[in-house]
Amino acid sequence: MNVYDSARMADVLAPLGFCPVDSAEGADLVILNTCHIREKASEKVFSELGRLKPLKDRDGTMLAVAGCVAQAEGEAILARAPYVDVVLGPQAYHRLPELVARAARGAGTALDTDFPVDVKFDHLPAPATAQGVSAFLTVQEGCDKFCTFCVVPYTRGAEYSREPASVEAEARALVANGAVELTLLGQNVNAYHGRDETGAEIGLGALMRRLSRIDGLKRLRYTTSHPRDMDADLIAAHADTPAVMPYVHLPVQSGSDRILDAMNRGHTAEQYRDLVRRLRSARPDIALSSDFIVGFPGETDADFEATMALVAEIGFAAAYSFKYSPRPGTPAALIAAQVPEAVQDARLQRLQALLRDQQDAFNRALIGKTVPVLYAREGRHAGQLVGKTPWLQPVHAHASNAAAGQILETRILALAPNSLAGEICDTRFDSAERRSA
Ligand code: 5AD
Ligand code: SF4
Repeated sequence: MNVYDSARMADVLAPLGFCPVDSAEGADLVILNTCHIREKASEKVFSELGRLKPLKDRDGTMLAVAGCVAQAEGEAILARAPYVDVVLGPQAYHRLPELVARAARGAGTALDTDFPVDVKFDHLPAPATAQGVSAFLTVQEGCDKFCTFCVVPYTRGAEYSREPASVEAEARALVANGAVELTLLGQNVNAYHGRDETGAEIGLGALMRRLSRIDGLKRLRYTTSHPRDMDADLIAAHADTPAVMPYVHLPVQSGSDRILDAMNRGHTAEQYRDLVRRLRSARPDIALSSDFIVGFPGETDADFEATMALVAEIGFAAAYSFKYSPRPGTPAALIAAQVPEAVQDARLQRLQALLRDQQDAFNRALIGKTVPVLYAREGRHAGQLVGKTPWLQPVHAHASNAAAGQILETRILALAPNSLAGEICDTRFDSAERRSA
């Protein structure tokens, strides 16, 4: 979501004459778009600010801190890094031009971390900053679920869904700018419930069916989902809408009912298993990825083994796993029974080894198969393009730039570090290549 937000900040600053550059060196304005989800992400902001300060002293570069660290720690930023010009939370991006102008007048640090009553999406211009073949689009923001470990409900605010018409208009603009694949974003994207032109409320499944009718839009994805909001219609969309990719990121966090309850997740491990069964029966080739937290306060060996058992049973194509990080202001940070770091480390290592094996097996199973790959950008070596399978695996293959933006049948040859090596075997592409030769 921060990648998407950064593109929208570029859009909103464009009328003032700003355009994105590759390096902070020589820039007029540097915006750090920040994440507050774990302590490590949050601490990085202050070290990065220290690194940027000499640029400001030398060239007068304006410095801004945006995103959730700004939202949660605005005052701390002003105290620890008073040389910062603008501090703005995620709900205030549309006010960036005004804040930058105020700071440029030398009026001191401009701080905006309110949750405004007006909706920022109504004030943002149409997306102009090219995101390329595969683009992000925020359809939902915020969260009302209050998992006991999580800062999101406090930093991103209450749950909000954009109207389908506004989402569709933005999707059309992105496709006109070269997007072939859209990833719909939201902290709780499958809680989406936008009101359409007839006044009816539609869910994420219906929204994707509507977007799938846009000419030139071939692939739809969404992230991040909550198991509780995975409704029958969304599951059905995986079966009835070919553009909806066979991949779901569905964080489970833990396989222990006791811990799931302490996390306030609102479901059991068995309910998660059942959901996976329903997704797999709707779309047998569906792949799942997930998020895990190890060492949540009070997690015992038995709780952790329940997580390992759940992973072993389900089989994930990919996963993100983290040590529990106490976040200020969240209920779990106040629980006395924090798990010692060494125990967290050992559990994380075991879990990640299992998840890595599963990811490896998942990728290996594709060797020798022919799959549609959406090519997006140049690879590291000359004459190479990188694309994605329907299951989000990166594939590199020899191809000219003519293949960028195309979905081409590709035979998977081997595993490569962090990707798959493939060979394009699509007849449409062969003839196009010959014509251009
Ligand atoms: N500690 C560790 N991991 C966390 N996450 C969210 N909050 C915390 C925390 N306090 C993880 C969850 C979530 C992902 C985005 O980040 O797994 O799904
Ligand atoms: Fe955080 Fe997700 Fe829980 Fe919301 S549902 S509180 S964003 S972990």
